[in-house]
Amino acid sequence: MPERSRRADDVATSSTVAIADAVVRMHRRDDDLIDLTIGRAFEATPRVIVDTARRSMTEDSARQLSSRGSGEFRRACASKLARENGLRVDAERQIVATRGAKEGLMMALLATINPGDAVLVEDPGFVSHGPTVELCGGVPVSVPLDVDARFAWPRTLRLKRGSPRVRALVLANPQNPTGVVRTKAELEVIAALAREYDLWVISDEIYERAVWGGRPHVCLASLAGMRARTITLMSLTKTYAMGDWRIGFVFGPEPVIEGITKFKGHAFAGAPSFVQRAAALALTDPPPELSDFLRQWERRCQRVAEAIDAMPGARCSPPEGGFFVWVDVRALGRDDAEIAERLLVDHGVAVLPGSAFGRGGAGFLRLSAIRDEPTLERALERLSAAFRSR
Ligand SMILES: Cc1ncc(COP(=O)(O)O)c(C=O)c1O
Repeated sequence: MPERSRRADDVATSSTVAIADAVVRMHRRDDDLIDLTIGRAFEATPRVIVDTARRSMTEDSARQLSSRGSGEFRRACASKLARENGLRVDAERQIVATRGAKEGLMMALLATINPGDAVLVEDPGFVSHGPTVELCGGVPVSVPLDVDARFAWPRTLRLKRGSPRVRALVLANPQNPTGVVRTKAELEVIAALAREYDLWVISDEIYERAVWGGRPHVCLASLAGMRARTITLMSLTKTYAMGDWRIGFVFGPEPVIEGITKFKGHAFAGAPSFVQRAAALALTDPPPELSDFLRQWERRCQRVAEAIDAMPGARCSPPEGGFFVWVDVRALGRDDAEIAERLLVDHGVAVLPGSAFGRGGAGFLRLSAIRDEPTLERALERLSAAFRSR
């Protein structure tokens, strides 16, 4: 057999996917396992979205697919951006449909960096940001977030000019794994860095509707002077309860969107037309169940954070946004991966060790807090027993 590519050897498996696979394998042996690893809605996709897709599947089968996405879908994205985010985006030229934010990230990188370019990624940060940079031929460079200041980006980050050239930065807001929602002032620090070094900014905003405590979500692209250098990733995976539908979109400057459309013409083509039709409806006229879900998810995140914060050895601030609580277990003086393993094996609760998200996550655990309430209460009982018996 010929040798496979170096890339296939070098790029790490997504740690969240690997742990989720292990949890699925354990589930087969132990029905009682509580899985708090992956942050996805367990609620069913609202009926009206499903019915729209079903109707489209049976009635619109001759529709021509466009790599850029259907006009209907892109117009729905533009009207959502105007209504909810206060942004005027040209549906024709500045938006492209993707099969979720992961595809959006890869496409955005391919359209902005050259082989060997360095790309700044957050540490701790979303597990796929760095490896996707590598897949696209770039070199991820970790930016250590400030553990003592709500995981803010450093105010003074000096980049080396020269080789490899830093060409872009990637951030998630709301942030995964820490649950921080960036204030306008914090985003201005990142924007100033991008302007100083002439960087592209890839802003992963897939949790933008999941912001808690009435705080606003600020789109990085809305800051003065940032539209021309910002590519924003959005997706219906999380807050529209459409995880397995694989649909999202990217908006940004026309030349980048055009590049992405070109790549998609070769690699992925468009997104399925019946999914786009259903997603257009969800964006234009979000079914009321979705607001109920958001209210419930916020309540659950607060409940889980408060309960864990009261456990010995665990500190946990209420998440500002997203689906996770981020638990500081440094006081236990033990490795976070070992703590996660003991919780899984001895107590039947699967959580992710913070170090899966980068060196800066060491000493933390990430828990998905949007499971149904009875499951979360059972998980809290087990966690409480685990922390008491440490
Ligand atoms: C920050 C962040 N970005 C992107 C993704 C992937 O999004 P999608 O399912 O739309 O590809 C996730 C979730 O897995 C995430 O947490």
